[in-house]
Amino acid sequence: MSNKTLIDLPSWQALKAHQESLSSTTIKALFDDDPKRFSVHHIEIDGLLFDFSKHAITEETVSNLCALARARNVESRRDRMVNGETINESESRAVLHMALRGSCADEVTIDGENVCAFVSDTLSQIKTLSKKIRENQKITDVVNIGIGGSDLGPRMAYKGLKPFADGPNIYFISNVDASGLDQRLKSLNPESTLFIIASKTFSTQETMENAKAAKDWLLESLDESTLAEHLIATTTNIEAAENFGVVPENILPLRDWVGGRYSVWGAIGLPLAIAIGFERFQKFLDGAKAMDTHFLNAPLEKNAPVLMAMLGVWYRNFWDRSAHAVLPYSHDLRDFPIYMQQLDMESNGKAIAQDGHDVGVETGPVVFGEAGTNCQHTFMQLLHQSAEIIPADFIVFANPSHTYFSHHEKLLGNALAQSKALMEGRENTQEPHRNFSGNRPSSTLVFDRLDAYHLGMLLALYEHKIFVQGVIWGINSFDQWGVELGKTLAQKTTKAIENKGENESFDTSTAGLCNHLAKKFIKS
Ligand code: F6P
Repeated sequence: MSNKTLIDLPSWQALKAHQESLSSTTIKALFDDDPKRFSVHHIEIDGLLFDFSKHAITEETVSNLCALARARNVESRRDRMVNGETINESESRAVLHMALRGSCADEVTIDGENVCAFVSDTLSQIKTLSKKIRENQKITDVVNIGIGGSDLGPRMAYKGLKPFADGPNIYFISNVDASGLDQRLKSLNPESTLFIIASKTFSTQETMENAKAAKDWLLESLDESTLAEHLIATTTNIEAAENFGVVPENILPLRDWVGGRYSVWGAIGLPLAIAIGFERFQKFLDGAKAMDTHFLNAPLEKNAPVLMAMLGVWYRNFWDRSAHAVLPYSHDLRDFPIYMQQLDMESNGKAIAQDGHDVGVETGPVVFGEAGTNCQHTFMQLLHQSAEIIPADFIVFANPSHTYFSHHEKLLGNALAQSKALMEGRENTQEPHRNFSGNRPSSTLVFDRLDAYHLGMLLALYEHKIFVQGVIWGINSFDQWGVELGKTLAQKTTKAIENKGENESFDTSTAGLCNHLAKKFIKS
């Protein structure tokens, strides 16, 4: 469907007119007019309360937004995804991360392989390997080497579930800046260290550079014959992993039908399973499956990921809001915003639709965030008083994973104070710099607690939100061609730095910088 058709849809036009009528009121006025507003605009699912009442919406808005979702065939596209159809058209791939948590039909087959059987075999491998590593007294430290989706998911989830981690220490190395690797290796002993090389392609520059350095580090003190005991690989590229020196029984296979940023549910989640044990890892999958079940079955008007997605479309396309803040009020979830940056911006940061036309309307917002209450001492000033209005998600957990209950009451109190202040504002006509205009929207997600199950629910909620938005905009949320050009050029700029800036095809700035760096960079 081309973009002209998108903006010409009666539901799109209805939303445009509706936005104009709503722009003369405020969210606070909507609360004042309706004592039942909270009860109408919140839903509860399995240990999650999703409050979307602090938004510039009425019941008519929800109904119009759902009409747009229906007009864009969100439900049939969702069903095509879960049935294993090739919805990632530019890469000719199915999109089956839901299969990794058991949410797809038994008969789904891709390239002649039964998907459920593959998932179940991989889970058995994760179970066996994680148990073996947890029970191996000789291994005290596990280092995951990977980047992007092969790093952010397991890293964020490991930190998120740290209170439940009772296995070896887990570390994550991603950047080609070797400072991370160098500092980490200095604290480790090769005898007791295991590396997981996590790379779907087994060719990503950063990962391969770090993996080679780690292997050399092991070989400085270990006999080559024992190397295999210190290396695991998770990849689609079995041959490359074997050539690197990983023994076949230590290679966990991935498949093309799961994108990197959606891959924490399978073999890429191995570090998490090692840290918290397979039973809890299974609970993580169960939580995601519960969210899948909700997403696949709840009517759109009561469907949390659909509502979150449509609220995002409402602000992006009808109120011209270009950013979105993700605010977990949880120290353990401090890596959630960066995980969300990849999940959302690598998925929906695109201006060309699947059919090759311009989308014609704005798509994915700039996503950023920080754990509460730290965010209150950094960028919340802008959210409260800037002319730029930035919708926010507050993510809170009713129960803490510690017993400092007074801290936790304050943490919760701060989260609720922020959303209330953003929505209501506070008038001060005498001192304009102290005036809070309010009318700034937010959602609040309240989970019973941050455990494996609810973390699984949270991640699946956002995955589905992003999927729905991609369907509305007509883009392919599962490719990432935008990362290619930089990767290709990096090979040339790296060579030019090695060759003292010589590359005739470079613009004068890039050539000058390469030259300057080549002169300044003294390798001694
Ligand atoms: O950032 C681009 C990207 O392709 C991501 O989508 C992916 O998660 C990451 O690189 C790592 O890729 P690989 O797992 O193949 O090393």
